[in-house]
Amino acid sequence: MCGIIGYAGELQAPDVIIDGLKKLEYRGYDSAGLSVFNNGEIKTIKSIGRIINLEELKNKNQDELISNVGIGHTRWATHGKPSEKNAHPHFTDKVSIVHNGIIENYLKLKKCLEEKNYVFETETDSEIVAKLLDYYYQGDPIQAISKVISRLEGAFALAIMFKDQPQKIYGARKECPLIVALGENQNFIASDINAVLEYTNKYYNIDYQEIIEISKDSVEILDIDGNKIKKQINIANWNVAAAQKCGYEHFMLKEINEQPQAINSTISPRIIDFLPDFNYDNIDSDYLKKFNKIFIVACGTAMYAGMVGKDLIEKIARVPVEVDVASEFRYRDPILTKQDLLIVISQSGETADTLAALRLAKSKQIETLAIVNVVGSSIAREADKVITTFAGPEIAVASTKAYIVQVAVMYLLSIKLALVNQKLDKNQAREYIKILMQMPEAISDVIGLSDNIKNIATKYQNTKDMFFLGRGLDFATCLEGSLKLKEISYICCQPYQAGELKHGTISLITDNIPVVCVATQTNLFDKMISNIKEVKARGAKTIFLTTPELETKIEKEIIDDIILLPCIKDIFMPFVIVPVFQLMAYHMGIIKDCDVDKPRNLAKSVTVE
Ligand code: AGP
Repeated sequence: MCGIIGYAGELQAPDVIIDGLKKLEYRGYDSAGLSVFNNGEIKTIKSIGRIINLEELKNKNQDELISNVGIGHTRWATHGKPSEKNAHPHFTDKVSIVHNGIIENYLKLKKCLEEKNYVFETETDSEIVAKLLDYYYQGDPIQAISKVISRLEGAFALAIMFKDQPQKIYGARKECPLIVALGENQNFIASDINAVLEYTNKYYNIDYQEIIEISKDSVEILDIDGNKIKKQINIANWNVAAAQKCGYEHFMLKEINEQPQAINSTISPRIIDFLPDFNYDNIDSDYLKKFNKIFIVACGTAMYAGMVGKDLIEKIARVPVEVDVASEFRYRDPILTKQDLLIVISQSGETADTLAALRLAKSKQIETLAIVNVVGSSIAREADKVITTFAGPEIAVASTKAYIVQVAVMYLLSIKLALVNQKLDKNQAREYIKILMQMPEAISDVIGLSDNIKNIATKYQNTKDMFFLGRGLDFATCLEGSLKLKEISYICCQPYQAGELKHGTISLITDNIPVVCVATQTNLFDKMISNIKEVKARGAKTIFLTTPELETKIEKEIIDDIILLPCIKDIFMPFVIVPVFQLMAYHMGIIKDCDVDKPRNLAKSVTVE
């Protein structure tokens, strides 16, 4: 998704802006640009491709760009191909703007503006914002912005400059994230705090119909009528180092290795006397006891964490759970009752479909609980209850540590639900919690298998297709494993319920096709081995993930490769299976020379539909 930064201070604005855009690269983009005030004019440069191209352009035009105030943008194309013309900022001779999001009624607004003799030069929806501001601006920025945002439908985060306000930057948002960061003799507007963390960790979150005005030494937040608003300051609970690579070659590898610590940080505040306790999140037993059914709604990897959650909650707490991808849930008119709880899971807390699912449930007066990794994100602020995970900033586009802490919260929640529903007594619950507390070490053990995993990735590096087979909880992990390998190495992977394969898809099993076989659930093991023999008989190469104990029950001739996992209780196996998949994807991506931190076509946070 696009990245936005605005600066007003004492430093050279182009340098601060480019530095900030580099910190936002992980959001995914295809072009970039900036505008600064210089000698009474607004000067704008744009380039396609990586930010280094913008930096080179800035260096070539150094003298024209001397300024302490400006805005910058990285564009992830939605309307109009990646091009210099379609890149932001978009401007008129009165105003320059950058935009993240989609203006859903832009064609109607464009037509109105064309009738007022405005000429459009780009294929973007964003250009209408610049022209509409130009149309309404009569010298009062707040009034003009207020009129414009009341006419925009869809999603937007905006940073705005008015030519006759050379010391100020303005901003507003709806759906897409935007913050104001407070520095010493300098202030910032940005898509998220990571862009400016080296300057300050103090920031305000901006809400819809709030307008920002910043200068070097002032920050005003106003409502659409121009009344000043007081807001609570957030303090980012991580530092620049935490958001950087810290010696690892890639963010993805760093974040895989951070998983043990991420789990400890997330579960520790929620375990008292070896029992799950969500009072830290203002969630008590009476609250959880109210619900007869749970809906878990999310996207991508977060949804796969929800699939693990379904298995756990139904097995341990015997509470029915439905899991949906948010883009389906929001349009299928789900049957919800007041005894239902909607749990949304989101690392970024900004995913448009997940946010829309949350709002749908709230519109039906359904209780909502969000599991998010970003403090103060839109989903966090709109849910009735929030469980914040403490994985720290996840920069790599492919989610790893955020997934594992979401799963950890699912374990805590399922054990807590089992207690409040008298499915477990306290001693039984303590046994589960004690095993949960051993998972960081178990994950460390798996990370120690990295070389074996790399050898397997090397062996199958030329495959075009790969299958992931499992049953029950093992299948839930196959969903995540398949996505990781797809998004990092671009191999076409298919996760499949092992028992379902023979109902058609087994026709795709041919000689030498690699099939990852996850066989860790004792009660399903024999059935799983039968399914594996079916694919082996058709020429597949099998890559087993199992335990030393279960390995003894497998005929050697059906094993081509094997990863032996730590011996832990069946129901905790996702903690040691998924890191294998993460490392397999990472190594395969490196071997195939893919951009493992910023895979093609992907964005870290999908803030549009
Ligand atoms: C995960 O590797 C992907 N990048 C993607 O599926 C992601 O999990 C999904 O877009 C949801 O994002 P969220 O957790 O920020 O809502």
